[in-house]
Formats: sequence, structure tokens, C-alpha cells
Amino acid sequence: MKFFVDTGEIDEIREAAKLGILDGVTTNPSLVAKSGRKYKDLVKEICDVTDGPISAEVLSTDYDGMMFEAHEWHKVADNVVVKLPLIEDGIKACVTCTKEGIKTNVTLCFGPTQALLAAKAGATFVSPFVGRLDDIAYDGLELIREIRKIYDNYKYKTEILTASVRGPLHIRDAALAGADIATIPFKVFGQLLKHPLTDVGLKKFVEDSAKIPKGTMILERDKALKH
Ligand code: E4P
Repeated sequence: MKFFVDTGEIDEIREAAKLGILDGVTTNPSLVAKSGRKYKDLVKEICDVTDGPISAEVLSTDYDGMMFEAHEWHKVADNVVVKLPLIEDGIKACVTCTKEGIKTNVTLCFGPTQALLAAKAGATFVSPFVGRLDDIAYDGLELIREIRKIYDNYKYKTEILTASVRGPLHIRDAALAGADIATIPFKVFGQLLKHPLTDVGLKKFVEDSAKIPKGTMILERDKALKH
């Protein structure tokens, strides 16, 4: 499973990249507005941190506007993916981008037939929003399972990018359902790592390691660390 970070904060992207397991970045107009940054400047800066896919969203809602912005984003860097809303003009723009070899992330997906349209339009990624479905008492993860089944039935190459993630259980369930990617808010990265039994276990191992008679390996390590 690939991990993207879902944020408009460059420091969070840098921090997440330090783990060494970051595969890409997603942004959206709300996240970028929160950061206070100019969208293009921010995306250019993200390009210096990762060469994985960076989703940058169009702000237009009509075909011509979306295509203008898609071409602008495409000029920024090869790894910039154009994020298009799952509306009629967004699907049309996705078809054109596919023909032109521009990578796309079709966003705001809330239903399996929408995901089917995105795949037929040749989307690189489709973003089902699991958290926002859960928020209104629909089953967000069931949507991931349905899309996985549909894409497997027809061997669509579009990757399922689990979005609107609220916590570690979304990641567990998306992985179990066979999602290709999860885009994860920065704070959830930390939650994936933490387990109280790991901390307790490590504390005990550290205490007990002090009781081990110093053999060659420990002596060599201490010597190496002094230099
Ligand atoms: C992903 O691409 C979306 O921008 C994001 O996951 C939306 O999450 P939210 O529902 O927390 O705003």
C-alpha cells in the first residue's frame, strides 16, 4: 500500500518524508487556503521534497477552465497530478488529459458508479472520501470494497486512493479492502506507529540490555560511537 500525506503544510510534508516511506502528496483548495500559501509556489516547493505524485487541484468547475489549469499544472513538473472534481466537465477533462498523457486524480468520489466513470475516463487515481461518508452515517469502507471489486472485474488500472482519512482504523480497513493508496493527515502518521506495548517492551529490553556482560559487539559499538 502506498502512503501519501494529505496536507498543505510544507513542514508536515518534510517531516513525513523523513520517515522514508512517503510515496506522494495530496492537496486540495481548503488545505492550501488554510496554509495561506500561493498554490503554485507551494506545489513547486513540494516538488523539492518528493518526486512521488503530487496532486494539485483545479479551481475551475468548467471544462475549458479545468483544461487551462491542467496544462498549467502539467508545466510545473512531471510528477504533478491534476486533481479534477467528479462532475460532468471533470470527467470530460479527465478524458482529454488521458489522451494528452497528463496524470489525473478524480476527486470527491462518493459512489461506485462515479468511480466506474473515473476509470472509464482513464483516471490515474480515484479518490473516494471515506471519512465524509462515515460522517453522514454511510459506510465509507464499503465504497472502497465496491470499487476494488468493480476495478478488478474489468481490470481497470485506475488506482484507488483512500481519502478523507480520519484515523488508523481507516488505514487498516482500506488496506484489508485492497485500496492501492491512502492519503493520510500528518497527525495520523504518528497514530499508525504508536502502540503502548511497544513502549513498555522496549523499556524492558533497554533495562535488561545493561545487564548483558559486555561482549565484542557491544565493545566495538561503543568504540565506533566515540569516533
Ligand atoms: C484528499 O485528496 C482530500 O483532499 C482529503 O482527503 C479530504 O479530506 P477531508 O474530508 O478531511 O477534508
